[in-house]
Amino acid sequence: MSTNRAAMLEKLADLDAQHAVAVAGGGEKYVERHHARGKLTARERIELLLDPGSAFLELSPLAGWGSDFTVGASVVTGIGVVEGVECLISANDPTVKGGASNPWTVKKIFRASQVAEENNLPTISLVESGGADLPTQKEIFIPGGRLFRDLTRASARRQPTIALVFGNSTAGGAYVPGMSDYTVFVRGGAKVFLGGPPLVKMATGEESDDESLGGAEMHARVSGLADYLAEDEHDAIRIGRRIVARLNRRKPELRTRDACFAPGISTSKQGGHRISGDSSAAFAEPDADPEGLLDLVPTDLKEPFDPREVIVRVVDGTSERNGRPFDEFKPLYGTSLVTGWAQLHGRPIGILANAQGVLFSEEAQKATQFIQLANQSDTPLLFLHNTTGYMVGKDYEQGGIIKHGAMMINAVSNSTVPHLSVIMGASYGAGNYGMNGRAYDPRFLFTWPSAKSAVMGPAQLAGVLSIVARAAAEAKGQAYDEEGDAGMRAMVEQMVEEQSLPYVLSGMLYDDGVIDPRDTRTVLAICLSVIENAPIKGAEGFGVFRP
Ligand code: COA
Repeated sequence: MSTNRAAMLEKLADLDAQHAVAVAGGGEKYVERHHARGKLTARERIELLLDPGSAFLELSPLAGWGSDFTVGASVVTGIGVVEGVECLISANDPTVKGGASNPWTVKKIFRASQVAEENNLPTISLVESGGADLPTQKEIFIPGGRLFRDLTRASARRQPTIALVFGNSTAGGAYVPGMSDYTVFVRGGAKVFLGGPPLVKMATGEESDDESLGGAEMHARVSGLADYLAEDEHDAIRIGRRIVARLNRRKPELRTRDACFAPGISTSKQGGHRISGDSSAAFAEPDADPEGLLDLVPTDLKEPFDPREVIVRVVDGTSERNGRPFDEFKPLYGTSLVTGWAQLHGRPIGILANAQGVLFSEEAQKATQFIQLANQSDTPLLFLHNTTGYMVGKDYEQGGIIKHGAMMINAVSNSTVPHLSVIMGASYGAGNYGMNGRAYDPRFLFTWPSAKSAVMGPAQLAGVLSIVARAAAEAKGQAYDEEGDAGMRAMVEQMVEEQSLPYVLSGMLYDDGVIDPRDTRTVLAICLSVIENAPIKGAEGFGVFRP
């Protein structure tokens, strides 16, 4: 077994362990208690809601990693197929602190609603939450208001919102069903009120009980907040599926080559999940085995690897219709960045992938041109990161590396075709920006366990700090503390190394998840299907370029 493979397998075993923590939710004791109450867990609810055998693309499973809160942030979010319709699903996990929302929960739900907005997806909320996490209320109360605003704005954009209420949904939480287009309340389970019996007693002196204040039956028969009364949790999920079936969702007309009435190829483009079993299924599996992806990434990211070896394991293979898997653009120019056209599960994509790590002026100019071409042809873009950033040094500065890097960042920022990013290895400095890092709003961004992201490499950052400190001491005429310097460098290096790791970044919601490289093709295929729910239209103009 290669050293690279052994190292990657070790990282993947660790990733499995981290995901297992997220899947365990509040842990055995709380899950058992929940089941003993005759209730389903968040993940069981999701599984029953989805079309049998279909995939669930979970988002931000490691949210809150490294914080004081349970990994996963007491909510499960992701995209799944319900009655043939791709939907954004958000399910409170009542086994974690009663499903209460902490600062990471709020950030995770914000990200989920951004995904629903950008990709024109209906939202299904599976509600059972103790509301705000009271000890951290100051961090969530004010920004958290956006949760309810997002729901009603989604509705105004004609992106339907459905709330299935299984349990507690009180105080601010009551506005989740309150702002949703369709509500289903479980008899004997849903409890939806602005204030519970103790609070009402305190406020007005009135004696009351849960059912009369916020029970499912009351809301279905009296207040009118519940549109459907479900007999139990399974019934609520059944009703939720029927609601989606009646939404009459259709994907916009697709722009695939099938539109030219090629003989023998169906021209039907109507709706639904198109991962397989439809006209775009006329694609070949990759020419090289994706298993080989585990051998590619060197343990030392300073060693480059050829991204064509990744591409050929991720995109559709050779076929009569597809031709070669990858048509490289400008292969002889700016060779540290590979650009070219391919298709993935039958869908066209343009790819930009770092080769030797550093981006020079030529690479930046090539990227700028390529991004414009993709916009001209309404082709989504995939960025495969392994970059240490733009080149520094006198010759490069004089050669205009800043203005060329700026051109690339301009093109990435103003491009309007959907972007997907995968951080395979390094993603440092402004290279992270030019290659469409998180701040540049790729529709989806996934990370391999081998990834590292920071303003620069740990050794470089520690070295820069040391040089600056030495110069400051000299300027003040003081002797420089050499022993202290070595200690400071070691400490900073270790700190930056730790902060650059994928779990830390994923925990902070700087990606949508850490994935096994072998799943890259499947994950991207789901993303490409999801983005087709909104029209794909290239930019008509960019910012002013300084050539
Ligand atoms: N903030 C922080 N922690 C909370 C919480 C909240 N809003 N709601 C519940 N928890 C914690 C509990 O303290 C308990 O912690 P522990 O197990 O470490 O002791 C854990 O979550 C489970 O709570 P518990 O009451 O045992 O669970 P339950 O399933 O029987 O009841 C609720 C869940 C949500 C119905 C109940 O805890 C409750 O009413 N919470 C307060 C709801 C509220 O008024 N929220 C304010 C809204 S703005």
